Amino acid sequence: MNVIVAVDENWAIGRDGEQLLYLSADLKRFKALTMGHAVILGRKTMATFPGGRPLKGRRNLVLSRTEGFAPEGAEVYRDLDSLLAEAPEDAFVVGGASVYRALLDRCETAYVTRIQASFPADCWFPDLDRDPAWEAAEESELLEEKGVKFRYVTYHKK
Ligand SMILES: NC(=O)c1ccc[n+]([C@@H]2O[C@H](COP(=O)([O-])OP(=O)(O)OC[C@H]3O[C@@H](n4cnc5c(N)ncnc54)[C@H](OP(=O)(O)O)[C@@H]3O)[C@@H](O)[C@H]2O)c1
Repeated sequence: MNVIVAVDENWAIGRDGEQLLYLSADLKRFKALTMGHAVILGRKTMATFPGGRPLKGRRNLVLSRTEGFAPEGAEVYRDLDSLLAEAPEDAFVVGGASVYRALLDRCETAYVTRIQASFPADCWFPDLDRDPAWEAAEESELLEEKGVKFRYVTYHKK
């Protein structure tokens, strides 16, 4: 499996149920990488998508124990094991914090947008630079949008 995430300098990923910021180049890249693949996410992350709806052109495998939660166009799983039984090998884990924590060990490749800024936050992704199981394999040039610098770093499980 793959994981895709945007982090700030402290590996923060969100606050009050929202993303820290949206970068249009990053959103385009997210779409290009995930299109045609299954995405795996938690209920709270789906709520951050436009209209709170599943992503088009992708199988949306959503984790939730909420009674009656059955959004059209999504497959809802009540626990990790039943989701994993259905998840294809080329699926992308797209968040949020709880789902990243639960599934990072099962991922082989991590597509990380490293934003060179820090934001107030209440959830984080594990720091892959400090995790001996992972190594940075590819790094893009430094990009900039709305005065914010960022780059794409691809990590591989050793
Ligand atoms: N920077 C990024 O790249 C990025 C990407 C995605 C999300 N985010 C941010 O991450 C934050 C959300 O993360 P989060 O951890 O609060 O929420 P989340 O992981 O998106 O969703 C949590 C919900 O998923 C369900 N869930 C999780 N594990 C489950 C399991 N094992 N079995 C059944 N259901 C399970 C539960 O839903 P029920 O309550 O319905 O049971 C749980 O409340 C937001 O701030 C969001 O913007 C950032």
